[in-house]
Amino acid sequence: MSGTIRKAVFPAAGLGTRFLPATKAQPKEMLVLVDKPVIQYGVEEAVQSGVPNIIIVTGRGKNAIEDHFDVAVELESYLEQRGKTALLEEIRKITAPINVAYVRQGEPLGLGHAVLVTRNLIGDEPFAVILGDDVIDANPPALKQMIDVYERVQGPVLAVERVAPEDVASYGIVAIDEREDLGPRVHRVKDLVEKPRREDAPSNLAIIGRYILTPDIFEALEATGRDGSGEIQLTNGLRRLLQQRPVYVYEIEGVRHDTGNKLGFLKALVYFALRRPDLAEPFRRYLESLDLKIGVET
Ligand code: UTP
Repeated sequence: MSGTIRKAVFPAAGLGTRFLPATKAQPKEMLVLVDKPVIQYGVEEAVQSGVPNIIIVTGRGKNAIEDHFDVAVELESYLEQRGKTALLEEIRKITAPINVAYVRQGEPLGLGHAVLVTRNLIGDEPFAVILGDDVIDANPPALKQMIDVYERVQGPVLAVERVAPEDVASYGIVAIDEREDLGPRVHRVKDLVEKPRREDAPSNLAIIGRYILTPDIFEALEATGRDGSGEIQLTNGLRRLLQQRPVYVYEIEGVRHDTGNKLGFLKALVYFALRRPDLAEPFRRYLESLDLKIGVET
C-alpha cells in the first residue's frame, strides 16, 4: 500500500553497552549533546520532516525518555511565574508539536524485533524508522529527503552513506543494481550483507539509521528467524522482503554522527557546540588554546 509517512518509530530498547558505565542507570538516548538529549535531535528531525506521530520502543530503565517527552507541569509553572519565557518556550517546543506513543520490547531481541513490536501501532501504512544514535545535520532534514524519494519510488527506502573501506565491517552493506536510472543518489538494492569483511564487501554503501518501510516488512520479520546471537535482525528481514519487492537506497546529503560510540559522541558534541551561536566563539577559543599533544602514553 502507498500513502504518506505519518509515523516514525524510534527503537530505543537496546542496552547501550558501548557506553557503559554511563548507560547503567540512564538510557543512552538521554545522553546530552550540548543541552539536548540525543533522541530529541531525531524527534525534531521527524517533526521538521512533517512526521509528528512518534512511536518509541522502550524497555526497562528507559523511563527518563518518557518523562522528557511528557509535559512538565510544575517546571512550566515555575518558569512562568518567574517570567523565564525563553526557557518556557524551549520546554514547550519539546512536547507541543508531537504525539508520542510507547511500546515496550520485553527483551532486547534485536532491531528487527524492536520494529516488529510496533506492528499494531503502525497498521497498514508505510512508516519511518529513526535510529536516534545517528544524528544527522542536514537541510532539508534527512528524513524529509527520504520521504521525497519514497514518494517517487513507492517502495522501502534505506538511508546509506559511503564509508571508508576499513569501516565496512561495522555496517550492513548493500550491493546495488545499476541498470535502472533512478535519479541522483538513489539506487535499487540487489543484495544486503551484514558486516562483511573488507574483501567481501560488494560496495562501500553502508546502511545508516534511517529507513522508510512498508507494512509488508512485518510479515518478513515474522518469518525471519533469530540469528546466532538470538536476535531478529532488521537486515535479515529486509533481505527476505527483497525477494518479494524492489527495495531502494538513498545516499543522504548531510553530516552524520554516530553518537552510539564514545568517539562518535565526542565528535558530535564538538560539532554541535561549534554551531551554537551562543557558544561557538568562546568554545572555539577554548579549543584553540588546548595543547593537543597531551595524551596517554602508548
Ligand atoms: P545498537 O546495537 O546500536 O544499540 O542498536 P544498543 O544495543 O543499545 O547498543 P550497544 O551496541 O550495546 O552499545 C541500534 C538501535 O536499535 C535499538 C537500540 O536502542 C538502538 O537505537 N535496539 C536494539 C532496540 O530497540 N532493541 C534491541 O533489541 C536492539
